[in-house]
Amino acid sequence: MARKLILDCDTGTDDAVAIMLAALHPDLELLGVATVNGNVEVARCTNNSLRTLDWIGRGDIPVYEGLAKPIVRSDFPVPRALKRDAKVHLATLPFPEARSIKQPLSAPEYLVHTFAKSPGEIVLVAVGPLSNLAAATALDPAFAGNVSELIIMGGAIDKSNITPSAEFNIWADPEAAAVVMEAAFPKITLVPLDATHQALISLDQCAQLRALGTNAGEAAAQLVEFRIGGYEANQPTGVPQTAPVHDAVCIAALVDPQVIDTKFLNVVIETRGEYTMGRTVVDHEKRTTRAPNCHVALNADRARFFDMLMTTFAKRTT
Ligand code: RIB
Ligand code: CA
Repeated sequence: MARKLILDCDTGTDDAVAIMLAALHPDLELLGVATVNGNVEVARCTNNSLRTLDWIGRGDIPVYEGLAKPIVRSDFPVPRALKRDAKVHLATLPFPEARSIKQPLSAPEYLVHTFAKSPGEIVLVAVGPLSNLAAATALDPAFAGNVSELIIMGGAIDKSNITPSAEFNIWADPEAAAVVMEAAFPKITLVPLDATHQALISLDQCAQLRALGTNAGEAAAQLVEFRIGGYEANQPTGVPQTAPVHDAVCIAALVDPQVIDTKFLNVVIETRGEYTMGRTVVDHEKRTTRAPNCHVALNADRARFFDMLMTTFAKRTT
């Protein structure tokens, strides 16, 4: 029986690989995609998600547009694709304009109604800022309890990527992340940068993806090659000619839990620190008496991850 999931994303280059893996893996049933302001403006995230789904022949999967800005902070800067990180994300993904269009319902309303209709049956994977999830929690206090498991790409223990102390998804809407961490989700798995940087993809592996000869293989190769160029230029990974594909690691971990190793730890979100805004404070050394609330991935299996991409993207779908 395929696992039902909904993907909430800010499509972006690694989000697009996550969308393809979720839409094409035989053990998953991607019910819908929700978009949120993050890497680029939410309208661009929506358009990029529609393009990606159409490109792999899954234009049947509905896309719902969500929040255009964080729930509290009013200083969210110009989306990153238009700033220094333009080399890691693209305002418009390099796929043909989509024939499908977004749904009329907003993403938070879609999340609330869909999980209420099937309580405990659907996994929610959130790989962008958590604004839609916070909005859904405000719309329906029962929303969190209806989600069978929440998997979040976000946060960091020893790494960072947007400030010296924070990871982008959490930093972009820290108040939303705090709401989510305090909500009554039955199980939260957090996949931070410390794990996603263990599953780097290389230029040679991009060539292997392209050699599959499928739209998904070609798209994954293009997107990750672009990311590698950006990482080499702006934030070298330490392994030459490689880049992390953060969001897709979350999908892979849903299919095969052995892709990540986790520890049940307490995680709280910094929402006030002048220099630490958006930090995930992970109590991995038991410095407090705060109860564990989240399964935190401490590493990821690069070979398992890449093998899953190759196997899944090998199947012709268009
Ligand atoms: O920090 C990495 C995360 O921020 C990824 O989800 C990437 O797509 C961006 O949203
Ligand atoms: Ca993302």
